[in-house]
Amino acid sequence: MVIQILRGLLFAVGLLVSIPLVQADGHLTRDEPILPLPSHIELDSRKVHLGNILYHDVRLSADDTISCAHCHNLETNGSDGQPRSKGIGGAVGDIKAPTVYNSGFNFVQFWNGRAASLEEQIGGPINNPIEMGSSWPQVLAKLNADPAMVSAFSQIYQDGITEQNIRDAIATFERSLITANSPFDRWLLGDETAISELELNGYLLFKDYGCTSCHQGKNVGGNMYGYMGAIGNYFSDRGDELTQADLGRYQVSGIDDDRHLFKVPSLRLAALQKFFFHDASVSKLEEAIQIMGRYQLGRKIPNEDVSAIAAFLKSLVGTHPQLVKP
Ligand code: HEC
Ligand code: HEC
Repeated sequence: MVIQILRGLLFAVGLLVSIPLVQADGHLTRDEPILPLPSHIELDSRKVHLGNILYHDVRLSADDTISCAHCHNLETNGSDGQPRSKGIGGAVGDIKAPTVYNSGFNFVQFWNGRAASLEEQIGGPINNPIEMGSSWPQVLAKLNADPAMVSAFSQIYQDGITEQNIRDAIATFERSLITANSPFDRWLLGDETAISELELNGYLLFKDYGCTSCHQGKNVGGNMYGYMGAIGNYFSDRGDELTQADLGRYQVSGIDDDRHLFKVPSLRLAALQKFFFHDASVSKLEEAIQIMGRYQLGRKIPNEDVSAIAAFLKSLVGTHPQLVKP
């Protein structure tokens, strides 16, 4: 009898401590709202290589001064660390540059989702008068005048240098920008010791407060839209005049209900950012967490919990050969 009870107890304890791993995306992971990033996806390595070169090529801008990397520096966090990006001739944009890392996992591109794919997104900065200020005919003419480029393209694409092939190569390169193997992902994959007690506690709070209702999946965001200010009016409390960029998805759809609706940003590299939110209104991670609690969940998050959530967000930062961690 005693032995049976003991056995029952041991079994119950075993259930509690054993890691129930489930099959997700081809590997075993914990049954959680956040999924690990794949360390590798099948991509044509020749396109990745060419895309990397194009990504750093200033000839994509009108006056040969600005490459994609100018605003999306891969060594820092795939962004420019500025509240607003400076483009051609020092022109200043109206919204914070997001990271390009893991952008291949976003369901749409841009804060307001106006590009359906990475391929489509690339036309944005090239043609934008305050970013690269160029045009496809200009870009094609410059690259076609370079025999090394002509040869590089012709080895991969039958029709050589075209707008579509430039988009294809850069987008393929961007899909390779994955920050895998973060401590949190290693924990998801079953490594008990990968994160600290504080980080684990931060994750449990992140779930308990309801952050995962919007920040979820592989990218801890990037798979749905959400209002900035689901509860309470963030914009009137902010005080600054409303900008076009603040309108979010309304800019694309013209539908009233889409005012202040944004693509929920990925939090994978949030801990490396210098500024938070589309308007870069905040420069401290802890403050960003508090604002989220207040305007998305109607909760005042105590400082202790904020610190734990911040620690969890830091554990989401993975590695990539070009990313230099601070
Ligand atoms: C002058 C600075 C600048 C340059 C140059 C630039 N970008 Fe951006 N990029 C931005 C800003 C700002 C945004 C956000 C715009 C928005 O959402 O309305 C952005 C958004 C993006 C996004 C969307 C990411 C997301 O999470 O929604 C991708 C991908 C991207 N850029 C890639 C590129 C590529 C590729 C190039 C080169 C062809 C490039 N950018 C050139 C500033 C720049
Ligand atoms: C209702 C959906 C929703 C919920 C719930 C939510 N968020 Fe957000 N989160 C968003 C949206 C939308 C943005 C972008 C807002 C903007 O830029 O104006 C955002 C932005 C952020 C940012 C800034 C990211 C960046 O790139 O600037 C952080 C950090 C963040 N959220 C953390 C959290 C935390 C922590 C919680 C829980 C306490 C949480 N969020 C709950 C939708 C949500």
